[in-house]
Amino acid sequence: MPTITFLFEEKDKNPVKAEIFPGESILEVALDNEVSLNHNCGGVCGCSTCHVYIEQGEDDLPEMSDREEEYVDRARNPKYNSRLACQCKLDEEGGDLVVTIPDQSGIIGH
Ligand code: FES
Repeated sequence: MPTITFLFEEKDKNPVKAEIFPGESILEVALDNEVSLNHNCGGVCGCSTCHVYIEQGEDDLPEMSDREEEYVDRARNPKYNSRLACQCKLDEEGGDLVVTIPDQSGIIGH
């Protein structure tokens, strides 16, 4: 079973490792494992609060849509490896992922 490791910008948080099933999104796994990640629009690619950085496994995720790109551009501190967690569903043959969760403290959301 592929795994996902969540790393955190906030220095006081330890990494969290969990299983991820093909077809599951990074946001779903985060919420199922009590990893705090905002998701204001409910996971429909209508905000940028579920912004994450993909450290490993980008090739095992679907390509970014134009709409996702638009919202990533509006996220705080976007980088080359930025994605929206709700749009990143693991491919059928996907392997392990490593994801950094941005500091959530300055994000107005839920
Ligand atoms: S939760 Fe809004 S874009 Fe992912």
